[in-house]
Amino acid sequence: KYKMILDLDTGIDDALAIAYALATPEADLIGIIGSYGNVVTERGVQNSLDLLELLGHPEVPVYLGAQHSSTTDHFDVMPVSAQIHGVNGVGEVELKTADRQLEAGSGVDFLVAAAHKYQQDLILVPTGPMTNLAAALDQDPAIADLIGNVTFMGGALTVPGNVTPVTEANINQDPEAADRVLRSSLPLTMVGLDVTTRTLLTTKETQSWRDLHTTAGEKYADIVDFYIDAYKVTSPHLGGCALHDPLAVAVAVEQSLVSTIYLNMKVDTEAPFAGRTIGDETRINDPATQTQVAVNVDKDRFVAEFMTKLTELFKN
Ligand code: BDR
Ligand code: CA
Repeated sequence: KYKMILDLDTGIDDALAIAYALATPEADLIGIIGSYGNVVTERGVQNSLDLLELLGHPEVPVYLGAQHSSTTDHFDVMPVSAQIHGVNGVGEVELKTADRQLEAGSGVDFLVAAAHKYQQDLILVPTGPMTNLAAALDQDPAIADLIGNVTFMGGALTVPGNVTPVTEANINQDPEAADRVLRSSLPLTMVGLDVTTRTLLTTKETQSWRDLHTTAGEKYADIVDFYIDAYKVTSPHLGGCALHDPLAVAVAVEQSLVSTIYLNMKVDTEAPFAGRTIGDETRINDPATQTQVAVNVDKDRFVAEFMTKLTELFKN
C-alpha cells in the first residue's frame, strides 16, 4: 500500500484534496505539510487540522512548512486568492477548531525521513508552491532517487496561465524552487491547468452533499459553493469550479485517468516569462529527468469517482 504525503496551501481545492486522499483506499495519508499561497502557512495548517477533525481523521499529523518563497523573506496573500478561497481559505465558513496542535519539527525534516523510511512506496502530492520539496532536495539530494512518485498540481503547458498569461499560481509563487524540482531525477507527474480546468464541479453536486444532512456534507457544500461563486466571476467560461488539487491526488494513485507526454521541463526564472513551465531545449534528449506531463483527462470518469468517494466519506 502506498504512503501519501500532501503538501498544501490549504484553500478550497486543497480541502477537496484532503477529502479525496482520505477516501482513497490505495494510499495511507501519513502526513500533511503546510505551505503558503491561497493563505499564509499558519492559516493553511490550521485549516488542515480543522478539516481533518471535521472528516473524522484527527490522527493524521500536520507539519509546518515554508512560509515564503525560497528567494524572499516575506509572503503576502494575493487579493485574488482571498476572492477565490475566502480570507480564511475555506470560503469564510466557520469550522470547529481542532483540539490538537501541529507536530513538533519541520515539514521538510518529516519529508526527508519519510523518503528514507518508505522509499518507493512514498507518494508526494504538492498542491501548492514547491518550496518545501526544493528545500528537502537541498537538504538530502539522495531523496530524488528514493521517493516512488511526485505528482504535483502546477504549471500549464498547452493552455495559458491563471496568474499571468504564461504562469500558473503554484509555480508562480516560487519559480526557482519549481525549476530545481523539475531538473531533478525525481519521478514526476505534472497535473497542470491543461487538465485541471477540464474537471469541474457545480452546485448540483454540492447540493447532493448538503442533502446528506451530515456536518461534513453541509460544511463542504458551503465551502465549495463559495469557490463555485468565485469562478462565476473569475472564469465564467468554465461553467463550474476547477478540481485542481483533488485531480492531482487521484492521478497519483491512478495514472490511467490522464494521458501524458514525457518531456524535460524547466521553469523560467527571469523576466519576461518568470514562472512559465515549458520544455527545456537543452535537456530535450536527457532520459534521466523527464516529467510525465498530463495533457488530457478522462473527466467524466474522474468526476464520477470524485463524487462517489467524497459522498461516501461525508456520509459518516
Ligand atoms: C492552484 O493554485 C491554488 O490557488 C489552488 O489551490 C491550486 O493548487 C491552481 O492554480
Ligand atoms: Ca493548492
